[in-house]
Amino acid sequence: MTDTFDGKVVLVTGAGSGIGRASAQLFAKRGARVVVADVKGEQAKETVNTIEQRGGEAIATHTDVSSPAEVAAMVQRALAAYGRIDCAFNNAGIEGEMAPTAQCSEANWDRTIAVNLKGVWLCMKAEIPVMLEQGGGAIVNCASVAGLVGFAGLPAYCASKGGIVQLTKTAALEYAQQGIRVNALCPGVIHTPMVDRLTGEEAEAESQFTALEPVGRMGTPEEMAQAAVWLCSDEASYVTGHPFAADGGFVAA
Ligand SMILES: NC(=O)c1ccc[n+]([C@@H]2O[C@H](COP(=O)([O-])OP(=O)(O)OC[C@H]3O[C@@H](n4cnc5c(N)ncnc54)[C@H](O)[C@@H]3O)[C@@H](O)[C@H]2O)c1
Repeated sequence: MTDTFDGKVVLVTGAGSGIGRASAQLFAKRGARVVVADVKGEQAKETVNTIEQRGGEAIATHTDVSSPAEVAAMVQRALAAYGRIDCAFNNAGIEGEMAPTAQCSEANWDRTIAVNLKGVWLCMKAEIPVMLEQGGGAIVNCASVAGLVGFAGLPAYCASKGGIVQLTKTAALEYAQQGIRVNALCPGVIHTPMVDRLTGEEAEAESQFTALEPVGRMGTPEEMAQAAVWLCSDEASYVTGHPFAADGGFVAA
């Protein structure tokens, strides 16, 4: 039996945890060879182990997406191992520190923008030439509902995610006629280590986060993986430039 991603090579950043790990696992399950990138190299290797244990194919790369040299090396490693990159899920991100705009530190601003926004741009800058050479590809950038609506206490994070939405639309227009689709995934509140850090795993804070969700629960990394995989798949062949909210109704409220 063949599946949608048989023979395809997919790069996933931030794939050592949460949404990125679940997505790498689902791409592999659907037949892709997966390049698992993360600034936490050991966690990237753990993701690869889980893929191999289930009979899939993947390699790990230790990459800080805010570093142009490391992003270039990541793409070179993908090409050396598999010879092409068909899809990229530029998912790596950090929440930064919680503080309102006037109290946001310059260090927090700079690091959050460097990882979340510059990181996505650096990844696309390295991936797009490869896809142009191949005659096409699909890119999904991980934004957030915090890129569509405000979120008090996370100014740098919201600015970075709003920037990803605009960057995604721009790249989608630029490469629409060259066979490259570029979309943004905008998750709602998803139960990952990132949310555990924000809530401190305290029941009251968790219920406040859950209360933001019209469906009455947090989403799962596996549900985000389904959305990322679909946006990358040929089944989404007419979808580009779209900020896709997979959010339990968060932005409808
Ligand atoms: N969890 C949510 O509720 C939620 C909601 C909206 C958007 N998102 C976005 O989803 C993405 C994944 O988040 P998650 O919830 O799975 O969090 P997570 O913390 O579980 O995973 C993020 C991964 O990114 C990696 N990473 C961090 N900085 C990096 C860097 N500089 N270079 C490479 N890798 C780096 C981390 O090591 C980690 O493995 C992020 O972009 C996040 O902003 C998450």
